[in-house]
Amino acid sequence: MRFGADYYPEHWPEERWETDARMMKEAGFNITRLAEFAWVKMEPREGEFDFDWLLRAINILNDHGIQSVIGTPTATPPAWLCINKPSVMRVNEQRQQITFGNRQQSCINQPEYLEACDHIIEALADAMDGNDGVYGWQIDNEFWAPCYCDECQKLFQKWLQEKYGTLQALEAAWGAIFWSQTYTDWRQIPLPWATSGAPNPSLALDYRRFISDSYESFTKRQIKLIRQYSDKPITHNFMGISPDEINYQQIADHLDFASWDNYPFGSADPAMIAAGHDITRGYLRKNFWMMEQMSGPGGWGEMSASPRPGRIREWTYQAIARGADAMIYFRWRVCRSGTEQYWHGILNHDGATNRRYSEIKRTRDELLKFEDLLEGTTVKAEVAFLNDYDSRFAFRYQKSNSELSYVKTLVSLYKGFFENNIAVDILTKDADLSGYKVVVAPAHFVLTKKRAALLKDYVQNGGTLVMTYRSAVKDATGLIFDEPLPGLLQDVFGVVVKEYHSPEASEENMIWGSMGEINGHTSRVNVWLDLLELRGAEVMAKYDGGFISYGVAITRNSFGKGKAYYIGTQPESDFMITLMDAVAKDAGVTLGIPTPQDVEACERVGEGKKLTFIINHTEQTQNVSIPEPCTNLITCEAIEKSLTIDAYGVAVLK
Ligand code: GAL
Repeated sequence: MRFGADYYPEHWPEERWETDARMMKEAGFNITRLAEFAWVKMEPREGEFDFDWLLRAINILNDHGIQSVIGTPTATPPAWLCINKPSVMRVNEQRQQITFGNRQQSCINQPEYLEACDHIIEALADAMDGNDGVYGWQIDNEFWAPCYCDECQKLFQKWLQEKYGTLQALEAAWGAIFWSQTYTDWRQIPLPWATSGAPNPSLALDYRRFISDSYESFTKRQIKLIRQYSDKPITHNFMGISPDEINYQQIADHLDFASWDNYPFGSADPAMIAAGHDITRGYLRKNFWMMEQMSGPGGWGEMSASPRPGRIREWTYQAIARGADAMIYFRWRVCRSGTEQYWHGILNHDGATNRRYSEIKRTRDELLKFEDLLEGTTVKAEVAFLNDYDSRFAFRYQKSNSELSYVKTLVSLYKGFFENNIAVDILTKDADLSGYKVVVAPAHFVLTKKRAALLKDYVQNGGTLVMTYRSAVKDATGLIFDEPLPGLLQDVFGVVVKEYHSPEASEENMIWGSMGEINGHTSRVNVWLDLLELRGAEVMAKYDGGFISYGVAITRNSFGKGKAYYIGTQPESDFMITLMDAVAKDAGVTLGIPTPQDVEACERVGEGKKLTFIINHTEQTQNVSIPEPCTNLITCEAIEKSLTIDAYGVAVLK
């Protein structure tokens, strides 16, 4: 395993580096990430490079057994570039150019920016060539920033021309006749700039795809330059389950491994964090790295709560349980200056050891006892969730209901499996689904014919599919189907949506379950209400008072050799957890160890190996019954029948 911290030697006097390396070594570190914001230190003036300081830092670390991931510094273009060549600056939706003074402030389509990036990356890769202290590379940092500049507009128009060929085809695809948005010249087509209202949804959907393509090109361009000098692994640090600015899968496709940055502020839901791990593992369908794990209070203007004792350890084990092969904490020591003066990491400003350092050191000492057993293991899931960027992009511009959130919908269903300790893969691109017993495609708003065919085949051949309200509503170019919903999948679900209702948050709408485990259960519902008409499906729940009284809300249909569940509304968490439990059981999914609420059990398996991680996400001591005698690898104790776990405590069972 790799274990370490994000380190910024450029923020500290060189005399301190040796002390830092020694303290890291004492905590069992063997990796750091360096340099991702140090452009001006590496190129103080255009074309004048200085990597000596970085090489000295790498060497000191390496002498202490610590290798480094080197970040390309393209997220922080220096003043000499931004001020001298203002065209490199990003433009926002209001068509205002962003001014220098923060980060991620450049347009990744601007030729002068790209040229400057090429120079620094090439010089950096050359300087690192053959260096043993270098483990690998990180491209840029947390991609997200869209741009709305004139260059992007020109390229977007070209992109559209290549995609649609003729303006007539584009007009048909977008339904551009609406409000006279028909174009007679490609050069008339705008970006989704701030107008007197919302942009054309089809244009906006294509814009997000265009920006994703732009980031993909930027990634490929950086990788190509690095590859001239280095064959070491390359990654990018993603941001978990929530962001939907660009399609992360398109970036991941070009990487050697995926990684992500986890900042569980305050009372962050452990299921959200788990979903962040599962989505990152899903991009390349293999283990991943934590490139930044919160390890202290953070904030730019205000400071978030400090992680309670035990929580850094808890988050560390949760990540490893879900497939992390490296744990890198953000950051080694909080900086004395700059926007992140408050963003604590392991050490405080004083640079002395503290409670957080001790907790991390203890965690590392424990892991060292059994980390060889992790080798070759990963999470094996029988349930897949589909994460769909087209749908997420479309919801950005048209939420459907002010309370509707793609991520919240996904996580509410995901929790049904999380709470039952059933492993899940979150997949972002079309894959062979035949190995999964259940596939959940939440709020799959945009549904291409290809995806629809894949899902239909999957159910036909015996799979169990779960979908929700606002699924199969729009086609690939964002037009709403002119047949009853769920559009292309009516026969699979055996229902049509007869009417729908977007409720106000204050409305009281209820459902009651009438089948299997949810029989007799009631729940308040919100966000969206589909009233279903049966075309062969069985009723699982009906509305019970409120706007739609007694209509059908949730159904199950047999189709081919499989089953398809349609969930037409958003019930409360308990109801959803019971429903997903019923779905899993009905589909023959292997159930996890039963644990109290918010105590997670998760397995990593490999050739003849099985490690079960039990993680207590609560602040109470919890008891867990164990199905068979085993050993707790952390304490080396034999466990017969049950286990007591402290607040935020963990156990790793073999
Ligand atoms: C991350 C970012 C880091 C640091 C951290 C705390 O999103 O990658 O560079 O800024 O947040 O703000």
